[in-house]
Amino acid sequence: MQLKATTFNNILKPILFLLLLAPTIWLIAGLWLNTLGANPIEYILHTLGDWALRILLLTLLLSPLRRLLNWIQLVQLRRMMGLFTFYYASLHLLCYLWFEQGFNLSSVYSDVWDRPFILFGMTAFLFLIPLAITSTRNKMRQLGRRWKVLHMLVYPAVIFGVVHFWWLVKADTTEPLIYALLTFILLTERLWRFKRGEKSGA
Ligand code: HEM
Repeated sequence: MQLKATTFNNILKPILFLLLLAPTIWLIAGLWLNTLGANPIEYILHTLGDWALRILLLTLLLSPLRRLLNWIQLVQLRRMMGLFTFYYASLHLLCYLWFEQGFNLSSVYSDVWDRPFILFGMTAFLFLIPLAITSTRNKMRQLGRRWKVLHMLVYPAVIFGVVHFWWLVKADTTEPLIYALLTFILLTERLWRFKRGEKSGA
């Protein structure tokens, strides 16, 4: 499968951009119209976390989908999706630090002791930082082979993200279970290809 480069760049990419931006628009509209429920801060925090994880998983789906559909262009969407993951994760962190902790570091410290899943979220976020910083073409060229190795950080990032989610859910574990299964399948597929000596693409 292959789309004309102009269709891909001028139509598909902008559509994807708008789709990835939709949760932000949804939240802004909800704030404006006052439709985010009784606890809008919690709603915003959760929605931002949800989308950070969902987009991260979708980004990891691109490589296997490219092979399955034989659609090489799909990997060109990785950078945009990876940066949107970082965007939602950063807003999620900001929302937590600002609205839940009032930027009080000692309060964050004691919260981490009370709710250790926070530490898993923070670790996932730490893994995402170098990925976002080195996402430009320039950095890719500069780092050469090391870029691929560095970008393997996406694997622990998704594992920590899923554990963070699973751990905090109290009642219905269906959603984190689906994400954990998807993560398992995606990482096992990569490991299997790696063992066969095939080139891997994050
Ligand atoms: C940067 C450090 C992070 C902090 C401090 C943090 C903190 C939190 C907090 C306080 C909650 C709400 C817990 C509750 O209400 O019980 C939450 C939920 C969540 N976070 Fe994080 N998080 C971080 C990073 C991440 C990252 C990197 C991801 C994804 C890759 C993520 C995904 C989620 C998800 C999916 C939820 C659950 C949303 C829901 O219940 O629908 N978080 N996080």
